[in-house]
Amino acid sequence: MHAPGEALRFPGRIGLGTWQMGQSAAQRSREVAAVEHALATGYRLIDTAEMYGDGSAERIVGGALKHFGAARRSELFIVSKVLPDNATRAGTARACEASIARMGCEYLDLYLLHWPGPHRFSETLRGFGDLLRRGLIRHCGVSNLDLGQLQGWLEAERSLGLPTHTQCNQLYYCPEARGIEFALLPWQRSQGIQTMAYSPLGSGRLVRNPALAQIGRARGVSAAQIALAWCVREPDVVAIPKSIDSQRLDENLHAAQLRLSATELQQVDRAFPPPRSQQPLEMI
Ligand SMILES: NC(=O)c1ccc[n+]([C@@H]2O[C@H](COP(=O)([O-])OP(=O)(O)OC[C@H]3O[C@@H](n4cnc5c(N)ncnc54)[C@H](OP(=O)(O)O)[C@@H]3O)[C@@H](O)[C@H]2O)c1
Repeated sequence: MHAPGEALRFPGRIGLGTWQMGQSAAQRSREVAAVEHALATGYRLIDTAEMYGDGSAERIVGGALKHFGAARRSELFIVSKVLPDNATRAGTARACEASIARMGCEYLDLYLLHWPGPHRFSETLRGFGDLLRRGLIRHCGVSNLDLGQLQGWLEAERSLGLPTHTQCNQLYYCPEARGIEFALLPWQRSQGIQTMAYSPLGSGRLVRNPALAQIGRARGVSAAQIALAWCVREPDVVAIPKSIDSQRLDENLHAAQLRLSATELQQVDRAFPPPRSQQPLEMI
């Protein structure tokens, strides 16, 4: 049993994304093997969602968890997300129970509202509150909320007196999507809210980027590793790249050990200038 209200601590700076998994039966065994490889080589944070493959990505995670061993569940940090359309009080509880059943994982370490939708935040938060009290989730949080929405969310949370508070917003963040740096990221930082960077490789677009590749060549690492090291350069940001290739999985995990120098950070800034004004939240 976990203490309600405990501080959110991610096990490491790089986790595994699972979007696009579970979409083709022909790929299933390769995808399960990839998640098994990730767990065997040290990934401890897994991000998934009821939306991915309509539940199939969670089933793939479940297949790999079986192999990892139910007795070792507490070593892992599993994140899933409720679809906005399901995020009423009762719908949130049902969706969470279904995610846990698909993965066979007993509980979720972090449960997120995938993006803001038709239901009032207070409805979703009541659902999260029920799940926290039942021990089915350890933490709750959000994804794709802009600054105003996040402030509204936290206000609703305070007024409901939940046994914990939101400590994570999962956002699109990578060198080519830096809009959150202008206002949202600094505000989250001031409030102790951590950022989980999704699509940290720009959904694959950055792995052949010439500027990142050039920085990487001088260090003997790949463009992907530079992109990931850049995303997690501050201690309150973790990244969740997705791969189903064992070599790329290893490469991505090792990026957590890279520290970029001031010169390298300037090179990234020249190729991908930081935002100079408030921009609408980017979403993938
Ligand atoms: N909250 C949200 O709304 C939201 C939205 C989007 C994504 N996400 C989460 O964030 C995760 C990551 O985002 P993403 O899947 O969009 O994209 P990503 O992780 O930025 O990039 C994944 C793509 O890059 C390739 N790749 C991975 N590592 C590589 C490497 N070292 N070298 C070369 N290619 C590499 C992968 O192909 P291979 O698999 O063939 O290696 C895949 O095509 C998702 O899986 C999901 O869990 C959340």
